[in-house]
Formats: sequence, C-alpha cells, structure tokens
Amino acid sequence: MQASQSPPPDHLTYLREDDRPQAFKDLLSSLPSEKDWVGNSLHLYQGFWFPSWLLNGIFNCQNHFQAHPSDILLVTNPKSGTTWLKAILFALLNRTKYSNSNSQRRHPLLTQNSHELVPFLEHKLYLEQENPDLSALASPRLFATHFPYSSLPQSVSDSKCKLVYLGRNPKDTFVSMWHFFSKLRPEEKGQIPIQEFLDQFCRGVSPYGPYWDHVLGYYKASLEKPEKVLFVTYEQMKLDPHAHVRKLADFVGCPFSEEELRDGTVEGILRMCSFDNLSSLEVNKSGKLGDGAESKWFFRRGEVGDWVNYMSAEMGERIDGVMDEKLHGSGLKL
Ligand code: A3P
Repeated sequence: MQASQSPPPDHLTYLREDDRPQAFKDLLSSLPSEKDWVGNSLHLYQGFWFPSWLLNGIFNCQNHFQAHPSDILLVTNPKSGTTWLKAILFALLNRTKYSNSNSQRRHPLLTQNSHELVPFLEHKLYLEQENPDLSALASPRLFATHFPYSSLPQSVSDSKCKLVYLGRNPKDTFVSMWHFFSKLRPEEKGQIPIQEFLDQFCRGVSPYGPYWDHVLGYYKASLEKPEKVLFVTYEQMKLDPHAHVRKLADFVGCPFSEEELRDGTVEGILRMCSFDNLSSLEVNKSGKLGDGAESKWFFRRGEVGDWVNYMSAEMGERIDGVMDEKLHGSGLKL
C-alpha cells in the first residue's frame, strides 16, 4: 500500500475524514484498517472492508432502516453493473406511467442518472442523515445497497422485502474498479498501479470485499430463500437480457402481461437502459452525482471480458485461483 497520500480533491468532499465526531474516530481507530488508493482508509467491520467515509452510513442504516414488505433492494458489489440494473428496475416498476410515446419523452431516465432515481441506502440516504424520513416514498420503494448479506439491517431479514443481487465476473469487476478508483484519485497521482491493486484485491481488501464473500453470501441466501433473494449476473443479463428482465419482473411482483410481451414493452425497457442509450444522454455525459463523482465515470465499456485488455494472463489466473479456492464446493462459478 502507499505510504503517504495527499488529501482528496476538493470536489470529493465526502472522502474527507477530518470533521468526523470523536466517538466515531475512536471506533474507527479500534477497527483493523488499510489505506486505500484514493486517499482514505478501509476498515474491517463485521468481516468486510468498508471505506471509512461511509461507515457512518452503514451504522445509521443498520440502526434505523425499517424495511417494508413491499421494498425492493438491489444489491451489488461496487462496479458490478449497479447503474444498469438500477435503470432496469426503475423502468420496470414505473413502466405503466411511461407507456405511451408522449410520456416516454418525459421518462425520468432521460434527464436523471439512475443513481439519483434509485438511492443508495448507506451511500446516500443514511450517510446524509442519521434517520431520514422516507415516509413520502411511494410503494414499492426501490433502494440500492452494497451491504454484505451478513451485515444487512435486521429489518431487511425480518421483513418480506425482496433482494435482487447482481454478481459479475471478478476479473471484469476488478478492472472496472481499477479504472473507477483511478479516476477518484487526485489527477497528479495518475492511475493506480494495477499489480498492487491486484495484490490487495486477492487478499480480500477492496471496498465491501472480500469480493468472494460478498457474492457467496447472496448466492447461498438465494438458494436458501429463493422467494426473497434473486441472484443474477451481469453476464447472464448481457447474454439474454429479454429473459432476465422478465425474470426480474416476475420476482419483484410486476410480471409482464401478454399484451406487454406482444407490444414490445420489454424491448423498450432494454433499449432505454442500454449502455449506448444511457451513456449518450447529456445527463450521463456531463452531469455530476451528489457526492461529486462524474456521471460519465459509471459508463466505461459495458462489456463482458474487457479484463483481457488490461491484465496479463497470469494476473487473470491469479484471480481465478483465489476464486476457485474460495468458491470451492459452493456450486457458484463467476
Ligand atoms: P466497465 O467498467 O467494465 O465498463 P457500477 O454501476 O456497479 O458502478 O458498475 C459500472 C460498470 O457497469 C461499468 O463497467 C459500466 O461501464 C457498466 N455499465 C454501466 N451502465 C451500463 C449499461 N447500461 N449496460 C451495461 N453495462 C453498463
């Protein structure tokens, strides 16, 4: 890891650790920690590595979030395709409001980034406030989170709410993460040295890592409670998006009618949420998210297997080796 790091750029104010309350700083200092590559630290809490700036959001959410039985939570590891699935789930759940050509022109995804439309629990709602008032949100409420399964707020486990987990090939996730976190660094620092980033990833030290434990938690839960947890992968979505959008709709309780299947509603949602469409919209080309990150950073290549362009075969084998060992016997292959 880096020995010294300069403070984060001014626009990434959420990365600053200085003005945290003393009790919070004390708690952080009691947790194992490692420096990350952006200018902050990761803390090991409940078996997972969390960026320090968002532990407050994690604690607030664990303590205060009250899940409703109709809630839908999209869960991902960072850089697994959250932006895409947020858009798809939003479009699915709101499709009747925007079904004719007039209303389609007013579709919120045309003017708002999907991260604004589907808020993260711990990154946004519970980071900004200890116990935000969510009573005005219409049902079903759609949230996103990167929470590991074992750390979810108790009310999520207790309620009948549904969890959609999106997994992704670890090599593509790793490369996507490497690009993204390199962008978050002060410009003069340049790209993160990929080999060292890989060493850390393979030790399990990445935001919300170990990656394998994050994915396995939800994979096992999907086998044990298929009515509560749906496990899909980015690669499956890419391979057969039509079938998977239908599967998502069935799972969240808004299946497509025969008429919708005939009139191209599924295709319309896929077109709206495609990489080409979303990444070409002004809001996603030049906008910024509330936390300072640029919207365009969430749209890079959007392809399966792009890791080969950045990693050597040996580096790829290293991730495969760790994953094979950690997923051994689980039945899960990514
Ligand atoms: P790449 O960096 O491999 O291109 P997240 O949303 O969880 O941060 O993940 C970002 C990854 O999802 C990036 O992967 C990004 O390009 C990809 N992505 C974003 N929008 C997408 C879309 N509409 N379709 C497919 N992939 C998309």
